[in-house]
Parts: sequence; C-alpha cells; structure tokens
Amino acid sequence: MDFAIKLGAPEKSRGACIVVGIFESRKLSEPAKILDDTSKGYISNILRQGDMEGKANTTLLLHNVPDIPAKRVMLVGLGKEKDFNDRAYQLAVSTTFRALHQTGAADAALFLTEIPLKQRNVAWKITQTAIIAAESTYRFDRLKSKPEKEHVVLSKVALYVSDQASLPIGEKALQQGLAIARGISVAKDLGNLAPNICTPTYLAEQATEMAKTYKLKVSILGQKEMEKLGMGAFLAVARGSDQPAKLIVLEYRGMAKMDKPIVLVGKGVTFDTGGISLKPAAEMDEMKFDMSGAGSVLGVLTAVAEMKLPLNVVGIIPATENMPGGNATKPGDVVTSMSGQTIEILNTDAEGRLILCDALTYAERYKPDAVIDIATLTGACVIALGHVASGLMSNNDQLAKELLQASELASDRAWQLPLWSDYQEWLKSNFADMANIGGRSAGTITAACFLSRFTEKYPWAHLDIAGTAWKNGKEKGSTGRPVPLLTQFLISRAKV
Ligand code: BES
Ligand code: MN
Ligand code: ZN
Repeated sequence: MDFAIKLGAPEKSRGACIVVGIFESRKLSEPAKILDDTSKGYISNILRQGDMEGKANTTLLLHNVPDIPAKRVMLVGLGKEKDFNDRAYQLAVSTTFRALHQTGAADAALFLTEIPLKQRNVAWKITQTAIIAAESTYRFDRLKSKPEKEHVVLSKVALYVSDQASLPIGEKALQQGLAIARGISVAKDLGNLAPNICTPTYLAEQATEMAKTYKLKVSILGQKEMEKLGMGAFLAVARGSDQPAKLIVLEYRGMAKMDKPIVLVGKGVTFDTGGISLKPAAEMDEMKFDMSGAGSVLGVLTAVAEMKLPLNVVGIIPATENMPGGNATKPGDVVTSMSGQTIEILNTDAEGRLILCDALTYAERYKPDAVIDIATLTGACVIALGHVASGLMSNNDQLAKELLQASELASDRAWQLPLWSDYQEWLKSNFADMANIGGRSAGTITAACFLSRFTEKYPWAHLDIAGTAWKNGKEKGSTGRPVPLLTQFLISRAKV
C-alpha cells in the first residue's frame, strides 16, 4: 500500500472510493456534507431511508453517486459526536480499512483526518491511520503449507488534509507512522514465529541481517565471551538448554560519537518452560512470546533507522531458552552476577530478571543517557493491569514522566507502579546477597526491585509487558507493543 497526503475537495476526487464519516444519528461530517450538497441531497436521502445510522463499526458503500466523479463513496459510522475520542477515531479507521479490503477499489481517498478530535492534531490522526492501515493487512501465514490467497487490491491511499500548512506536517506524520508500522510488524513476526525456529541463534541472525540493511553495528557474544565477562546469572538460565545463548548488541548512530546513547534492553527468552521450577502445561505454548521484549527492541531499532532519527540508540538482547535440561540450574543454586552481587535462585521460573541483570550491568559501558528494559517479566503484571497497560517502573521521575507522555501520545498505554524501598525487603536471602524472587504479593514490583539493584549508575526505566505483548484466545498473536510507545519516546527525544 502506498500512501500520500493530499489537499483537495471530496466532490472533485476522481478515485475508486471516497471515504467520509457519518456521526450517530445520521449527522454528516463536513466532507460528507459537501458530497451531499454536490449530489443534491443523495446521501442524506439514503440516510433518511434508514440504511445507516452512523453507529461505530458500520459502513455503507454507495456506487455512482450523482455528480460525484469518484466511482464509490463509502460512509463510515463514527458513533456519537460527543463521544468521538481517540478510540472512536481508531475504530473508524480500522472499520474503514476492513471494509475497503472487501471492495474492488484499488485506491481510496480518506476524508477522516479533518474530523475534529479533542487534544489530537492532524499529525496524530495521520500517524494513527498509517499504523492502523498497516495492521489491517498484517498476516502471519508463512508457516502454513498453503497460505490463503487473499491478495489486497487496495494499493493507493490518499489521506486528505484541509489546508496547505497541514501538507508538510502530514507528510512527516505519515513517514513516522509508516516507520512505526514497520517496527510493529518486525516485532509481531518474531513473536509469532514458532519457538523451534525463533531460537537465540535465529534472533542473532535477524539482528545481523538488520545491521546489514540499516548499516548498524552488531556484535554477538557467545557463551565463552559471557563467561569472561562474568555473566553468571545469565549463564545460569542458559545452562538447562541445548540451544546456545547469545548476547546480541546493536548500535544505531544518528549523532556524533560523543552523544550518550539511549540503551534498550529486551528480554529474549525464546521459550520459557520455567526450568526445573517447571510451568504447568496449560497454555505453555504462549511462552514462545517470552522474547517479545527482544522483538520490540528490534522493532524500535527498525523504526528509528527508517526515520534516521538524530540520536544514538543501543539495543541489547540477552537471548536464551529456559529449559529443564540435565545441567539446568536448581532451586537453591547461588550464582555470581556480572556486577559481583550473588543471587540465590529460589525459583528457576524467575529467569527474566537473571538474564536482564547481567545485560543491565553490560549496559554501563555505554555511559548511557537512559536505559529502558522491556520484558514479559511477571504473571503478576497481567493480574494487576490486565492486557490493557504495560507496567512502568523507574528510578528516575523525569524519565518515567517522559515515557508516560510518549505512551499517551502513541495510544500505547502504560501505568506507573511504585518502586519504594519498602518492597526491597522481600528479596532478602539467608545465603546470598539477594534471592531472585520476593513473596507472593506485589510480584511485578519486587521483580523490578531486583533489577533496580543493577541499575544504580544511570537513569533507568522498566516496562513489564507480560499483559500487553500478545493476545491469547481466538486472536492469539503478538501485538507488537510497546513499539509505538518506545518509538514515540525516541521521536520526542530527538525533537524532530
Ligand atoms: N515469562 C514469565 C512471566 C509471564 C507469565 C508472562 C505469564 C506472561 C504470562 C516469567 O519468566 C515468569 O515465569 N515469572 C514468574 C515469576 C515468579 C516465579 C516469581 C511468574 O510471574 O509467575
Ligand atoms: Mn519464567
Ligand atoms: Zn519468562
């Protein structure tokens, strides 16, 4: 699908399909009104006949509207005007694309970006439209022997703006939206891949490919190198698996060398059985998504490289399986992390924090401006926030605030949880500097408390995406979150 930002009047548009919005009940948006006037009340007549109310999630396709040069006019329900908010706009756009794909239209002209939306400008609407349009064509069928042949006819989409000044703004917003969409799709593909294919080695290969495509610096560390670095916590997780663990490091330079980078650390557990503290069988297949943090790092770097953002970003991905092999770590084992701190591993299923803590120590060498880790870290986060918001915790209020603002702007929800020192007590161990689990309560926070002991040298934030990285049930699949949030954070940081 190709996109363009255009300026022009709906009644003159000659394409295969014009899309205009209708509020409930039967209230025409501005562009719809113009079409109605030109066609001498043709549209309002149809509405009066009761064919469309303007309810959200509905469309009505009209052919050969009098005095309108376009072949088709699609009316899209916007719901009640007073309730027209972000979600309603997003729903109208996704409804539009679903309906457009069912027509034979090869091109479409959308007049939805002009509809006023509280606190959102035309740039936001265009970025969202590009992301939603890309999602409407996303399929993951590469593992099916006969992929369904449903080729998308729609190849050109014009997003109309109402004034000259909006053209360059719209163009920039479009490019950002397309870059974010690309990043989301990278993250989704990696998450959806079967865990026998998406192994630590596969992630390393993908990172190497990405480095070639976008001219990034890549280094892949294997077991030997990690032993030299003293990554005892990471290696304790890896030892139960036959798949070799990898520490993947990608460096994107959009600025002078001296500029301190933002480091993204993504949990890359390509399958989490729990290890010796084995998980129950039900839904264990979903633990293939336990590398979603890693996927989001590769997704964000893709988006950043596509946009050529003027800042430096480093991605660090500790990648391993968590398996109960004969050599696996046992509950009670004590290991020494790269930081020198010792850890009593009371539960081998709390493996994410073990691989992250060494990656976070490794991050110190970049003298980072900020470090953000992204991890499907705790089931407790799903209990606390459901599948709606990612959990955010930070040792720096300014950084947390920036991330929350980016989350709001990107419509990719996150909610901050406290990291008060009161919670640190739970990690006490009788045998080592700390245990790798707290009690049953506040599991998301105690996991972050564990990580906080390895992040004292820089501003740090932690995103627990256990509830948001994938959907289960009938719609099982990766969501690509929090690529929108993180990319927006970097766009805002780059001040472009
Ligand atoms: N990858 C899981 C977290 C998870 C569980 C994410 C379910 C999404 C859905 C993580 O490695 C894990 O197993 N965490 C344990 C920690 C516990 C042993 C302290 C958990 O949440 O049960
Ligand atoms: Mn686990
Ligand atoms: Zn895990």
